[in-house]
Amino acid sequence: MRDLIDEFDAPRPAAAGGSLGSSGAPRLAIDLRNRDFLADARTVPDGSIDLIVADPPYGLGKDYGNDSDMRSGEAFLEWTRAWLELAVPKLKASGSLYVFCTWQYAPEIFSFLKTKLTMVNEIVWDRRVPSMGGTTRRFTSVHDNIGLFAVSKDYYFDLDPVRIPYDAATKKARSRKLFEGSKWLEVGYNPKDVWSVSRLHRQHAERVDHPTQKPLEIVERMVLASCPPGGRVLDPFMGSGTTAVACARHARAFVGYEINENYCAIARERVAAVSGISSDAPAVASEAAR
Ligand SMILES: C[S@@+](CC[C@H](N)C(=O)[O-])C[C@H]1O[C@@H](n2cnc3c(N)ncnc32)[C@H](O)[C@@H]1O
Repeated sequence: MRDLIDEFDAPRPAAAGGSLGSSGAPRLAIDLRNRDFLADARTVPDGSIDLIVADPPYGLGKDYGNDSDMRSGEAFLEWTRAWLELAVPKLKASGSLYVFCTWQYAPEIFSFLKTKLTMVNEIVWDRRVPSMGGTTRRFTSVHDNIGLFAVSKDYYFDLDPVRIPYDAATKKARSRKLFEGSKWLEVGYNPKDVWSVSRLHRQHAERVDHPTQKPLEIVERMVLASCPPGGRVLDPFMGSGTTAVACARHARAFVGYEINENYCAIARERVAAVSGISSDAPAVASEAAR
């Protein structure tokens, strides 16, 4: 198993700290750890994380090259509570957490989290799966549930970078004097809590060799809205590194865990591709985080 910190030059507010890179711009750490989050969580200081993006095994028997998704029922819920107990204290007072799950376990997971955090939203990810026959004894499920929870009422949330622009026709329809100068018309509208984004088909340009890779569009929205520029994101189950890529693209620091070495290598390559560094760069151990 190996660890890696890819440092890359990215703009970062001076107040957020950090050393200067070769170009003079501050460096942010993208820390990809080929380790078990539950075994290593103690090395991430409590109160040091702005945002947790957690996309754990769903308890539905997926093959991640390990047996991590082979728990079901109470064993799955017990494991879920165990990693949440470890993850939640890592958040700052202004921090928040997104957790992906499915309708089978969302009620229990959300109820448990409500004993620790404030629930802000349930987001429904509509995967836009086309109808192909399939089940005849119930309606076809095409969504994942995502819970958004915050530590306090003063949680960080910036809508502006994730607003959706109005189309030209809507803008024209609202061109009467009454709407002139309306900020909302210029900056766009607040995304709703149903996110309709196609799952990544095998042929999709973004797709890598991971069975449940999430679309970058979804994770970027979480990072931009819920982590301040220069802040730090934790992903306890990073898979192919989608959250790391979002952080590398948007000047957020990142620490992530993945037990499958092959997925770690994929994450490393994806981060290198957006950071303009070599994916063969020597691994640098994270002293600060141990
Ligand atoms: C749902 S996938 C994450 C997919 C990821 N969001 C992406 O876009 O590629 C969950 C991942 O968690 C990893 N995993 C399972 N148990 C783990 C643990 N205890 N610590 C770290 N990673 C773990 C699995 O190998 C799997 O790749």
